[in-house]
Amino acid sequence: MKGKRSISIVPLLLTQYKRILLGLFLMLFVVGMQVVSPWLMKMVIDQAIPQKNHQLLLTLILVLALIPLFITILQSIRNQVTHQIGGCVTDTFRNLLFDKLVKLSPKTYHHFQSGDIAGRIYSCGEIGDAFIAQVMVPAIFDIGMFVGITMVMFYLNAKLTILVLILLPIMYYLSRWLTKKTRPKINKIIQLQQGLQTYATEFTTGLKTVQKFHQEVAEREYQKNWIRDYRKLRNQAAFYDDFSILIVDFGRSLGFGIVFIYAAIQIMQGQMTIGTLIAFSVYFPQLFASIQHIQAAYVMSEGIKPKLELVYQILHLEDEIIDHPSKAQKLKGAITFADVSFSYEKGRGELSHVDFSIEAGEFIGIVGATGSGKSTILDLIMRFYEPTSGAILIDGRDICDYAYGDLRSQIGLVSQDVFLWNKSIQDNLRYAKPSATEEEMLQACEHAQVLDFIQQLPDGWDTIIGERGVKLSGGEKQRLGIAQMVLRNPQIILLDEPTSALDANTEALLQENLTQLFHGKTTVAVAHRLATVRKADRIMVIDNGKLTEMGSHDALMENGAIYQKLYAEQFQVH
Ligand SMILES: Nc1ncnc2c1ncn2[C@@H]1O[C@H](COP(=O)(O)OP(=O)(O)O)[C@@H](O)[C@H]1O
Ligand SMILES: [Mg+2]
Repeated sequence: MKGKRSISIVPLLLTQYKRILLGLFLMLFVVGMQVVSPWLMKMVIDQAIPQKNHQLLLTLILVLALIPLFITILQSIRNQVTHQIGGCVTDTFRNLLFDKLVKLSPKTYHHFQSGDIAGRIYSCGEIGDAFIAQVMVPAIFDIGMFVGITMVMFYLNAKLTILVLILLPIMYYLSRWLTKKTRPKINKIIQLQQGLQTYATEFTTGLKTVQKFHQEVAEREYQKNWIRDYRKLRNQAAFYDDFSILIVDFGRSLGFGIVFIYAAIQIMQGQMTIGTLIAFSVYFPQLFASIQHIQAAYVMSEGIKPKLELVYQILHLEDEIIDHPSKAQKLKGAITFADVSFSYEKGRGELSHVDFSIEAGEFIGIVGATGSGKSTILDLIMRFYEPTSGAILIDGRDICDYAYGDLRSQIGLVSQDVFLWNKSIQDNLRYAKPSATEEEMLQACEHAQVLDFIQQLPDGWDTIIGERGVKLSGGEKQRLGIAQMVLRNPQIILLDEPTSALDANTEALLQENLTQLFHGKTTVAVAHRLATVRKADRIMVIDNGKLTEMGSHDALMENGAIYQKLYAEQFQVH
């Protein structure tokens, strides 16, 4: 994010040089024909008619009639090419963004709101399909048109052309001055737009919370303000846009008047033919149209720059997940934290000097107050984050030396909040193991105590579970998360309060299943309820980011002050 790096679309366009050359080549013909037809008209007026040359007249008229047809054909081919160029820019940007996102660590992408990143992926279409295809590439063609027409005009009448060209820089600076005025407005509009995208995502996700706290009025107030501000800015920007078009139009009329007066004088003095004037009266609007297009492209490019900046802001982030080649070695499951400290942000200490060793096959419980750092320990083992100091070893080797794939295919994490896709239950299970057979999935669900639930759904496996699993209860999601883990069958199992939403009965049944199933595998289970980890080989007590006590339940009951306190808190009610 730091450091100013170039934001330029040019390198991307250069990759499209073949299509651009083809477009330019086609354009050359179009421009040629557009430039030639007024000339032919001049010939009709100045030669064919006065000389009564019927054959010349017929030929000229035939050519003049066919030219628009050819222009239309060539232009539609050229449009296809421009669409392809723009589409390619959109697709490249989107692919680069998605490629980048999977290489970022949660530490980085959690800084962005999800709607914000989604908005940037979406805006690639505005950059490529809309701006590049419909504005920028046509503007390149307009430049060619401008050059072509100017050259012919010079050839026909240099003095008149110079007169026309004097008007152009005046127009240019005037419109630049206007765009400078609109630029801050456009930036503000984009900011507001980006904000809306994020807000709309959040608002729709949190609509229930809005209703729960009865904050509809406050939210509506905020939305109304937003909508009003946005419209005000848009109107102002539209006003400036229209105003600048008006200025250009005014310039055109003025220029037209001057050209006509000057041409009339020259014709009266016999220095110019009527045909040349007719040709000029066609060239002149064409010339101004191309200037208008170029100028509009310039205005729009100012609007697209901030969007491009937002895309490049992500693309310029360093890759964080850089992988070693896979060695596909099988993990045994011993985990060591060697003096690990970690903080999410500078100045805070989520974990300090955590030091422990877990043998392969051990069942470890982690308990402690909320916010003490339990989930963070699991995330560190998954290498979602890296220690600020110290090292984490698996089977005696630093986890940074493993390929991500080797590590994550053999470590399974069931998070506190299980994320499920808005697909069928079956698809979600297969996400954990694409090759899973029906039989395997049935078994996994049975082990996870969720089979009965699935079977009583009207569509069974094929039930679509709603965005983020909204159609499921917390306990059902947790059990599906466990079923996913069972399917993956990893060597190291990390459970983050996976049964917190279950009733005691279901939890006990599930625990029994899992203890059998996970026998011989390393299991690290974070639990809020001490009863959940009572049978663990050893229990770690985390207090405010420090590992304060570690031992079996019995040992801790004897000499673990904090554990005793937690125990007393939980069981005195019973
Ligand atoms: N992504 C994050 N960014 C910044 N701080 C975080 C993040 N996740 C957790 N924390 C903070 O780290 C501390 C430990 O969090 P966590 O490990 O989730 O606690 P526990 O699981 O024990 O309840 C808490 O103070 C929490 O606010
Ligand atoms: Mg937690």
